[in-house]
Amino acid sequence: MNIDPVFGADRYARYANLRADAPVERIKTPPGTPGPAELWLVSRHDDVVAALHDARLHLEQPPQYQFGIRTLLNTDPPDHTRLRRVVSGLFTRKRIQSLRIAVQAIADDLIDHLPAGETIDFIERFAVPLPITVICQMLGIPADDWRLFREWTPKIFNTDEESVTTRPAAVAQLIQYMGGLVRTKRDHPADDVTTTVIQNGKDVLSEQELLSTLMLLLIAGHETTVNLLGNGLLALIQHPDQLELLRSDPARTPDAVEELLRYDSPVSHATIRYASEDLTIAGVRIAAGEGLLLALGSANHDPALVSEADDLNVQRNGNQHLAFGQGLHYCLGAPLARLEGQLAFDTLLRRSSEISLAVEPKELQWRISPLMRGLHALPIQLSSIAPAELAATA
Ligand code: HEM
Repeated sequence: MNIDPVFGADRYARYANLRADAPVERIKTPPGTPGPAELWLVSRHDDVVAALHDARLHLEQPPQYQFGIRTLLNTDPPDHTRLRRVVSGLFTRKRIQSLRIAVQAIADDLIDHLPAGETIDFIERFAVPLPITVICQMLGIPADDWRLFREWTPKIFNTDEESVTTRPAAVAQLIQYMGGLVRTKRDHPADDVTTTVIQNGKDVLSEQELLSTLMLLLIAGHETTVNLLGNGLLALIQHPDQLELLRSDPARTPDAVEELLRYDSPVSHATIRYASEDLTIAGVRIAAGEGLLLALGSANHDPALVSEADDLNVQRNGNQHLAFGQGLHYCLGAPLARLEGQLAFDTLLRRSSEISLAVEPKELQWRISPLMRGLHALPIQLSSIAPAELAATA
């Protein structure tokens, strides 16, 4: 399949060329992507920032591309403001810090079950179950059900031929599941995010908006963090000096997570924006109705943002990367993603003595997705694993 390199394994070289020669370039989306077959890709940092704040760029899709589910990520003010207000208090830094012990326990439990000295798929054994378990606990979803989501969400997001045909059924199953969850929580309110969204959303959200808001939290709450953990661990394994720096000084972990978010951003392109009127970006005329991809991954490698932008440097601080977007749609879950990333890398490095890649880097398979940047699998070996109590944080 011939796809544009901005969606491929080695996208950063293509981004560098585009930033230099064609900062707003028309590209073909991967086959099967919902929406227009061609989009404008904006690759320079300053243009991406300006576009993220440009009220002439709308997230609401033109009628021909709508598939009926209204979420934060396809609405503009005033609907977006109304939807966001319902959930804005749920993921604040203070609330998220109260989850620290629970997230640590999930990370430790997953590591307890990893066999030392054998090849394991880090994505399947750690990067997926950690954020899914956390968001399911937050939403009050029974632990056993997360396997269902693992079946449905790739069908909703991937753009390979099989997923395109299975997508409608997967969306329908997810909607049906969330409907059942809402009925349960209405009958038995609990101390969880689902119950709070139902209560905050009363008289504010339609039934359909309530379901799609919960679905977005569930999906956004794990698809992206999986990629932070997978891409981040791969980057560290490929930069052993940086990995050792971090291992020798775990207090660097928060800065290191920011650098990993910048270096190989889990969301490479923000949600498609549509021009509501004719406009010009970097001298290129964009007609009303045309769609744009804002390349967060490229902006994060622009020397206008940081020096030596293609190098991984876990000692950078004050990293103003765009991995969580900016402006009205800035990631609601950023504090949660940061907590998960920090605890995951801290625990992994504390409890394992050596982490190595079990395949040649060129054998790694990257998912083909218009927005996400992530691995299908990350085969690794951990040479030994210390029990949690012996590797306790100082
Ligand atoms: C490393 C992990 C994550 C990354 C890199 C990430 C990235 C992003 C980005 C780039 C956006 C803005 C998209 C745009 O402007 O088009 C966004 C929005 C959003 N994210 Fe995250 N995210 C992550 C984790 C999470 C988590 C854990 C949640 C939990 C619930 C979450 C919930 C959301 C929601 C609800 C929005 C929509 C906000 C709005 O439109 O107002 N994200 N995220």
